[in-house]
Amino acid sequence: ATASCSLIEPDGGRLVDLVAPEGPARDALRREAARCPQIRLSRIDLEWVHVLSEGWASPLGGFMREAEFLQTLHFNCLRLGDGSVVNMSVPIVLAIDDAQKRAIGDRRRVALVDARDRPVAILSDLHHFGILGPYFFVFSFSIEIYKHNKEERIARTWGTTAPGLPYVQEAIAKAGNWLIGGDLEVMERIKYNDGLDQYRLSPGELRAEFARRNADAVFAFQLRNPVHNGHALLMTDTRRRLLEMGYKNPVLLLHPLGGYTKADDVPLSWRMKQHEKVLEDGVLNPETTVVAIFPSPMHYAGPTEVQWHAKSRINAGANFYIVGRDPAGMSHPVEKRDLYDADHGKKVLSMAPGLQKLNILPFKVAAYDKTQKKMAFFDPSRPDDFLFISGTKMRTLAKNRENPPDGFMCPGGWKVLVDYYDSVAPP
Ligand code: ADX
Repeated sequence: ATASCSLIEPDGGRLVDLVAPEGPARDALRREAARCPQIRLSRIDLEWVHVLSEGWASPLGGFMREAEFLQTLHFNCLRLGDGSVVNMSVPIVLAIDDAQKRAIGDRRRVALVDARDRPVAILSDLHHFGILGPYFFVFSFSIEIYKHNKEERIARTWGTTAPGLPYVQEAIAKAGNWLIGGDLEVMERIKYNDGLDQYRLSPGELRAEFARRNADAVFAFQLRNPVHNGHALLMTDTRRRLLEMGYKNPVLLLHPLGGYTKADDVPLSWRMKQHEKVLEDGVLNPETTVVAIFPSPMHYAGPTEVQWHAKSRINAGANFYIVGRDPAGMSHPVEKRDLYDADHGKKVLSMAPGLQKLNILPFKVAAYDKTQKKMAFFDPSRPDDFLFISGTKMRTLAKNRENPPDGFMCPGGWKVLVDYYDSVAPP
């Protein structure tokens, strides 16, 4: 609502904001939380509360009820009251165990508390009435507790139940056998007090920033790795293409994922330092770039998850989305190969129901061209000229204090990586 009308509409037409306004409403919510049955949130649960509270998953207004869960698993979409669909490819659910289910009984409002038992939100059965065009609709009636069929959830989200999927190990394997869904009312904005909160702009704040900058196109780049010059090539090439198309002021949203990542990924605080260097060293232009943190946890669910990565950026005001090789991919947890076909992410994204209004910019793989001594798009007619430096390879080099070839990454950015590995295992 804060944005200029030239920005893309959020899914469902209106940006969801679940944070209670400061004042009596918030105080009443806090007092009520003390009287409700309580569920303690894990770190990942809290990240999902954060995601929901700011409207990244708009029009979803809370943890999924069974109908939303089934639509997500089976259609990768949510059906709205007016018959339209929005994309929604990963379940956003809250698991509880048998004892918690018993404790809740038939209570209709439940308090969600953090690791130190401070109230974070109330899960309730608010009636959300809405008007969309000529239609009047009701989102929901009641909180719901329903079976958590983990095998079905995992198989449908990842396309495999192979043991060792990081998110499954972290957040599903030991979780309870029930899911609880309902509307969320969040006490206050989710903060982490890790020195990075100023980068955690909500979709509404990002929209306001794009409007302030008079952006006539916003192109988003999702990442969970340090920026190398191959990534940069995708971003600078996009800008060139948008200018060619006649846009006057395209703005880049450099949008590192800030929630849960697997143990061998580079931690967020180090990635943020690395991204800063990339801007300082002039690899990306700070004048036309907004750097912010995307609060979602990472599933590593390839073509399924990349839809979530794209959909949530619509809500933040992006109308172009860059996708390259093997987005949200990882190596197979037991076999010696990648889990997903490296081209499927971009193919699926270009066809995904509910994402028609987003312009997908699919990119070929970038690799190190030894003849030019720089990162370039891979040319299959001369494969021997190219060196592929995977994330794993890059991390191994930095760990061993070896240098990548000149032109792979800016020296300032590379130094941050080496410093990170020194900090974990001093030389
Ligand atoms: S992701 O999990 O966030 O998708 P990553 O940070 O590795 O992973 O990638 C960010 C984006 O860059 C994704 O769109 C991915 O497809 C793209 N990408 C990464 N490496 C390459 C490459 N060598 N060539 C082309 N695209 C790439």
